[in-house]
Amino acid sequence: MPKWTSKISLVPFSLNIVIGPRRVGKTMGMKLLIRELLRREENPYALFYFDCGVLENHREIVEVVNEYIKIKERRRIKTSYIFLDEVTLVPEWWRAVKYLVDRRKLKLDVITITGSVTIAAERHIGAFGDRQGNGKTVEVMPLSFRGYYNLFHEDFFSSKGQEVFEGYLETGGYLAYLNRKLRTNEVMSVIKADVRALGKSTSAARNIIGAILDVAPDPVSLRKLAERAGVSAPTVREYLELFEGLHILLPSPSWTLGEESSQERIGSSQSGTPSWRGQ
Ligand SMILES: Nc1ncnc2c1ncn2[C@@H]1O[C@H](COP(=O)(O)OP(=O)(O)OP(=O)(O)O)[C@@H](O)[C@H]1O
Ligand SMILES: [Mg+2]
Repeated sequence: MPKWTSKISLVPFSLNIVIGPRRVGKTMGMKLLIRELLRREENPYALFYFDCGVLENHREIVEVVNEYIKIKERRRIKTSYIFLDEVTLVPEWWRAVKYLVDRRKLKLDVITITGSVTIAAERHIGAFGDRQGNGKTVEVMPLSFRGYYNLFHEDFFSSKGQEVFEGYLETGGYLAYLNRKLRTNEVMSVIKADVRALGKSTSAARNIIGAILDVAPDPVSLRKLAERAGVSAPTVREYLELFEGLHILLPSPSWTLGEESSQERIGSSQSGTPSWRGQ
């Protein structure tokens, strides 16, 4: 069982929010937790899993849960465990979640939602506040180097360190790479689908990423990126936020001062100017 699954609260009422990049193992972890719960639960109908990726809008989320509530009531289940996977790709998903919590039909239940698009999620997650009850917000990230190393060896040997580190750089700590379940074109199509689902243009995204890769790891201004990508500086800013939310880019602070005013630099502050690198 991945460690993060133990952070999910199973005490009613809970609204757990599991958030993390694509292909990091959220669905797998959640299904392993469901398997555990099935061992303990007398009634398997107390567990409900739904992949929201197929839904078009927030109303459909409510409809799906309402259908489950009918089953729950028919079977006289007191506490149910509802898992709504990949909810953040559904437009206005937070309206459905707020409605489901506020209606209090699920006040003795545990709801767990997952999402991979932090840009669309962060401000709404903050707004849930008291609505989470005993629930936790759990961030799932790829393995750290230590975690990755420990998959192969228990103790640290410096002779092995270099070799394992090279593997770590190649896989990024994603387990899916290790069992050859992740391919480059799959990653590309997942990113494209997310960009489209968030109402952004895949060709602008491609041009801006291309412009960044051309200059990375050097610090670069928004204006220069805009010139290279053939779009406006505000558009570049908007897409950088999107890539950061999708965990494709990570801003890294850089302390060199260029000739341009810091105002023009990405995420600029008076003390330094961040550069960007691909993750
Ligand atoms: N604990 C694990 N051990 C081994 N492999 C794993 C583990 N978790 C995930 N994987 C591998 O990673 C792949 C992706 O995992 P999963 O589908 O759970 O990710 P996800 O975070 O739900 O992705 P998405 O955001 O695209 O839905 C799995 O198909 C599996 O091959
Ligand atoms: Mg998933």
